Amino acid sequence: MRFSLHIFRSMKNSVYIMQMLDKYASFNPSPLSLKKLAEFGRSGSNEQNKESFRFLQKELPVRLANIMKEISLLPENLLRMTSVKLVMSWYQQSFQELMEYESKNPPDQKVLDNFTLTLVHIRNRHGNVVETMAEGVMELRNRYGIDSNTENRIQYFLDRFYMSRISIRMLINQHTLLFGKKEKHNNPRHIGCIDPSCNVSSVVQDAYDSARFLCEQYYLAAPELTIISKNLLENESDPIQIVYVPSHLYHMLFELFKNAMRAATEHHIEEDQIPPLNVMIVKGQEDLSIKISDQGGGIPRSKQDLLFQYLYSTAPQPARSESASAPLAGYGYGLPLSRLYARYFQGDIVLSSFEGYGTDAIIYLKVMSSEANEVLPVYNKTASRVYNRDIPVNDWSSPWITNQRSFSTFSAFRS
Ligand SMILES: Nc1ncnc2c1ncn2[C@@H]1O[C@H](COP(=O)(O)OP(=O)(O)OP(=O)(O)O)[C@@H](O)[C@H]1O
Ligand SMILES: [Mg+2]
Repeated sequence: MRFSLHIFRSMKNSVYIMQMLDKYASFNPSPLSLKKLAEFGRSGSNEQNKESFRFLQKELPVRLANIMKEISLLPENLLRMTSVKLVMSWYQQSFQELMEYESKNPPDQKVLDNFTLTLVHIRNRHGNVVETMAEGVMELRNRYGIDSNTENRIQYFLDRFYMSRISIRMLINQHTLLFGKKEKHNNPRHIGCIDPSCNVSSVVQDAYDSARFLCEQYYLAAPELTIISKNLLENESDPIQIVYVPSHLYHMLFELFKNAMRAATEHHIEEDQIPPLNVMIVKGQEDLSIKISDQGGGIPRSKQDLLFQYLYSTAPQPARSESASAPLAGYGYGLPLSRLYARYFQGDIVLSSFEGYGTDAIIYLKVMSSEANEVLPVYNKTASRVYNRDIPVNDWSSPWITNQRSFSTFSAFRS
């Protein structure tokens, strides 16, 4: 009797959660600008804590529900993978925990404190989402293979899924750093995880140092670094600063440095000296551009389209071992994830290559924090159609596609 009551309760609860999921997925996420985010937390007062609670109480479930709806549109065989099921269960659990705060208005101190703790738990629970989702995709590829339609859908989904995750973590970090009792940022200038005067050259130097450390471990050599800065907006001698999340900038630079170092070192391994990496930082009216130039032999144009594909890598897949040090390359996640970080606040990452010589990788960021608005995936009919649509048949002639029907019988010319 008690058992069936328990089942009845949990069924009632899951019906309620499904209804809430539909409700929250019907709202669009509300993007914030870096300026808003930075201004909001300046005082860290109790009033702001309540205001932040009221915003997140709705916004976090909206962002979670929007992306959960998209997970459910993934190809059937991907949804069956154990790791994908695990990720799904984390999202369900977190959504359910946030529903506990749905009606807690106005919040008293206990509710505010518990809410912050819940956010910390959610952040910890989702710590390995990127790797676990990647494992699911890898499992699918190894077990069934992935055709080009499925690959396109997965690429589309992963970009949106990881972008949603970046945004959710950004909101959680801001709240817990500003209002959590245990988590104060050790730099008093920072507002949550935002540095209102982020010194770009020092982040470049930090990221270079870490990548160099890894590179020397693998090759016992690494290219030197030169930095040229041009501040064309303020005084030329002023250091280049920007309102930004230093950890995001570091992430992008570290990935680009690792790639540039691997290419430059492998290309010149037989020589006495590896040519340096030249970095140029320019602050203009609208864009802050950071270019990393290497002489690592470049990338052929035929491979350009693959660079930002998840799982595309020319490095051997690193062995999975707890004790091994971090790999320099091998997962094929470096470029696509870094570009998401750049795009998250309306920036971008572009690679241009001179095959045989080297590559320029450029990070673009918005100079004005008021223009750096979050870019967020929205679940709607257009998005859901992508998951059911096949990529159009190629309508340009191509020597690479072998299944095009041709009237010509000149088979001698077609081999
Ligand atoms: N500067 C560069 N010069 C030459 N090839 C590059 C450069 N940057 C990227 N590539 C090519 O693009 C591929 C994908 O890069 P990406 O950073 O996404 O993955 P990865 O470096 O292979 O693995 P990881 O996920 O560990 O970064 C690389 O394997 C490499 O072949
Ligand atoms: Mg890489």
